[in-house]
Amino acid sequence: MSTYGAEVKRVTTHTLQEMKHRGEKIAMLTAYDFSLAKLVDGGGIDVILVGDSASNVMAGHETTLPITLDQMIYHASSVIRAVKRALVVVDLPFGSYQGNSSEALRSAIRIMKESGAHAVKLEGGAEIQESVSRILSAGIPVMGHLGLTPQSIYKFGTYTVRAKEEAEAQKLKDDALLLQEIGCFGLVLEKIPSALAQEVSQQLHIPTIGIGAGGHTDGQVLVLQDMLGINKDFHPRFLRRYADLHDIIKGAVSQYVQDVRDRDFPNEKEQY
Ligand code: KIV
Repeated sequence: MSTYGAEVKRVTTHTLQEMKHRGEKIAMLTAYDFSLAKLVDGGGIDVILVGDSASNVMAGHETTLPITLDQMIYHASSVIRAVKRALVVVDLPFGSYQGNSSEALRSAIRIMKESGAHAVKLEGGAEIQESVSRILSAGIPVMGHLGLTPQSIYKFGTYTVRAKEEAEAQKLKDDALLLQEIGCFGLVLEKIPSALAQEVSQQLHIPTIGIGAGGHTDGQVLVLQDMLGINKDFHPRFLRRYADLHDIIKGAVSQYVQDVRDRDFPNEKEQY
């Protein structure tokens, strides 16, 4: 259902909490620019994540590590200008919060002040407890992110499913409880077994949002360009494609090139 033109009630962290209690699923997608964020918001999405996956999707890097705080703020402020309803969560990029909690707080404040975002997301559990607490104490809502945490890709070595072994699953459960206890309003669970995601989601009173974590989390998130089929090279099992924009866009560009070469464009009606 489109929300364009209607009186819109903004989604807040409180709304998400209520949705979990009512058993309503939460829909989240990424966006990194004004034009697509406007479409995503108008399509009725609950949460927009300005993910550090912009590093891959927008800049063509192999990992999420290179994107900077300034670049995240640029993407986030473009998205914020487009959004009327969704809650906008912004990733703190690699290197902007791991050093110490003062740096983490400074980075989170810059995102909130300079982009107008509504919340931030950080990857990790007990290791970043102090940083998360410090950001929360400044009144900034924080979303956690456990399981596959792409900023640690060089530690993991691969993007395969996490927490299949008991020890890692136990740490994830402990971290989830810890993040809830210190005040996170929600948690992304990435690429973990469905049964583990279900257990964590049932245990927590804050909402969990899964990506590659099965159907029992309180919500789902996908990278917009992946679900729109813009990038055809990425096809993990968890990804459902809702469109094939790769072929549509390429076809439109080829047609335009042909029309220009054939002197078909512009025609009489398309000029002054
Ligand atoms: O950056 C991102 O897109 C993310 C999602 C995969 C959850 O963190």
